[in-house]
Amino acid sequence: MAVTVASAPGKIILFGEHAVVYGQPAIAVPVTAVQAKARVQPDISAPSSRILVWAEQIGLDAALDELPIDNPLAAAVRAALVALGVPRPPAFRLHVSSTIPLAGGMGSGAAVSVAIVRAVSDFVGRPLADEQVNQIAFEVEKLHHGTPSGIDNTVVTYAQPVYFVKGRPVERLEVRRPLHWLIADSGLPAPTAETVGDVRRGWQADPGRYETLFSEIGLLARQAREALAAGDMAELGRLMNANQALLQQLDVSSATLDALTTAALAAGAAGAKLSGGGRGGNVIALVDEPQAAQVREALLAAGAKTIIDTRLTRPRVE
Ligand code: PMV
Repeated sequence: MAVTVASAPGKIILFGEHAVVYGQPAIAVPVTAVQAKARVQPDISAPSSRILVWAEQIGLDAALDELPIDNPLAAAVRAALVALGVPRPPAFRLHVSSTIPLAGGMGSGAAVSVAIVRAVSDFVGRPLADEQVNQIAFEVEKLHHGTPSGIDNTVVTYAQPVYFVKGRPVERLEVRRPLHWLIADSGLPAPTAETVGDVRRGWQADPGRYETLFSEIGLLARQAREALAAGDMAELGRLMNANQALLQQLDVSSATLDALTTAALAAGAAGAKLSGGGRGGNVIALVDEPQAAQVREALLAAGAKTIIDTRLTRPRVE
């Protein structure tokens, strides 16, 4: 058996986080500048079927059998073997690494799952279809926070820009002209399970208010799809700012994230908002080339730890 390697990109949500959990549309794009990688290597000296999982970035080096049921890496391996119908594969070592910031709202968990499932299924000689990979990654997402919408695993599996509605097939996203976002890391973790839980409690306490906020966010995502198709950057920027205002009302922004969006806008970004679960993680700023350098400087001056560029160029979702 040969060594197999698979990777999967990070992602950002352009519009619609949180509301997407409640059935509203959202837009997400892959970020290929960062990747999770899984490598499976046969372990001929090991007892048959022994699986070792090694991920030095999170201090993990253990036999699969010793890992708890809710360990997401172990869960991805186990779910892949179940889906493949190979409960006792030849012994192997799995090495997992990632350049996607952990807990940064960039889909690191989903990307790790997708890379593992692909590397393991290739290793046993039965590569799984994207749909199955996506389904398994979705099951693992449930370990990270109980009620994921499925947007992270979907955009990461297909590595395409997506217009996503929970439970529906992925829709094609048309992009009229190239667009450039700066992704600024606040340096704070994005506690997605916490923010998703807080929004749920808020919704339970005051369903009317929250459902209005969710529909307003959904409307922005629909308008953003039109603006992307028309190549209307000024409109997209306006929609991002409106989305950020609604995320503030959902109480998932923070002083740090607000300071970053304010700095980006003051330096000439067309729009800026948090991306992902919020409170920490990343802020994204839509920039025109002439302003890109000064927005980058402003974000760094406002405390951004790193900045990643991402460009949305052409439609590829079928
Ligand atoms: O994993 P994150 O931090 O990108 O957040 C996911 C986006 C949410 O809408 C907040 C949750 C979800 O499952 O869609």
